[in-house]
Amino acid sequence: MKLLIAGVSGLLGINLAQEAQIEHKVTGVDRGKLKSAPFNILKLELLESGAVDSALDSARPDWMVNCAALADLDACENNPELARALNIDLPARMAKACKARGIPFVHISTDAVFDGEKDGFYTEEDTPNPLGVYSQTKLAGECAVLSENPEAIVTRVNFYGWSLGGRRSLAEFFFHNLTHNKSMSGFTDVVFCPMLVNDTARILLKMLKKNMSGLYHLVGPQAMSKFQFGVEIARKFSLKESDISPKSILSSTLTAPRSHNLWLSVHKLSTDLGESLPEFSTGLAEFYTQYQQGYPQKIRGYQQF
Ligand SMILES: NC(=O)c1ccc[n+]([C@@H]2O[C@H](COP(=O)([O-])OP(=O)(O)OC[C@H]3O[C@@H](n4cnc5c(N)ncnc54)[C@H](OP(=O)(O)O)[C@@H]3O)[C@@H](O)[C@H]2O)c1
Repeated sequence: MKLLIAGVSGLLGINLAQEAQIEHKVTGVDRGKLKSAPFNILKLELLESGAVDSALDSARPDWMVNCAALADLDACENNPELARALNIDLPARMAKACKARGIPFVHISTDAVFDGEKDGFYTEEDTPNPLGVYSQTKLAGECAVLSENPEAIVTRVNFYGWSLGGRRSLAEFFFHNLTHNKSMSGFTDVVFCPMLVNDTARILLKMLKKNMSGLYHLVGPQAMSKFQFGVEIARKFSLKESDISPKSILSSTLTAPRSHNLWLSVHKLSTDLGESLPEFSTGLAEFYTQYQQGYPQKIRGYQQF
């Protein structure tokens, strides 16, 4: 199949391209970061008028996945107009254009649409209550996509992995600080369900193959605090877990408000896929193997001629 990925230089985009190219012909939309990737690159600024049609006309894909977003929470608070343009208007245009061409479309949303006030285990039936500009625009983006294109797949995700710049994911944050013997803190009162981004990518491809549609939670099946996540990374890489100190988010100086409990149920997805989602320990083992096999350097090399 021919897959078009918007936001291919991002953490999800680059790993999705990596997984998809094993079986499919991949074209990624990039603004100029990628120089020598092993898939087709379309150099485009997606907010320019006509960019979505132009990408679809030149790639002529069988499937499209939108990984482009303004995904930095604090950047969204500081630039709500850009957040709206990238997280609401752009995916709505993509959803509409894909529908008009009969191309199955996947849009990526976030676990952070929930306020975390419930005692965890949010299902797709639970009412979201986004706390900041990022999550408000992501929720509005979900609605806009499904209203333009009810057949689209919308997934609420949370993932970690190796990124192009080496700094995008929480796992990389812990890994880099731990390897440089720098002390850091991890929030004990923020619970989430991390999934290795390569698992996220493989599941997205399975959902497309199965012609699924609608809203799904696509996160890891195990909930843990961000502090615990850091400790798991330290243990896997045999680094010093005592360099991570437990901290409450209440004492942090982050700009955007964050939910305390983003434990999401993946029951709907695992039932419709007919399989359970990969365990946290399996994903972490793969993250470590990728490191041993030079995967981070390989990905970073896509930025160089
Ligand atoms: N990371 C997580 O754990 C997490 C959690 C929940 C939800 N999500 C969602 O998952 C999706 C992917 O996230 P991510 O972490 O992979 O994001 P990311 O690393 O920040 O990547 C965003 C991508 O969008 C591209 N982009 C932004 N503005 C663009 C524009 N005007 N034209 C063309 N491309 C543009 C970026 O290109 P440049 O590289 O050129 O800027 C980049 O490729 C997003 O929808 C995000 O909300 C992520």
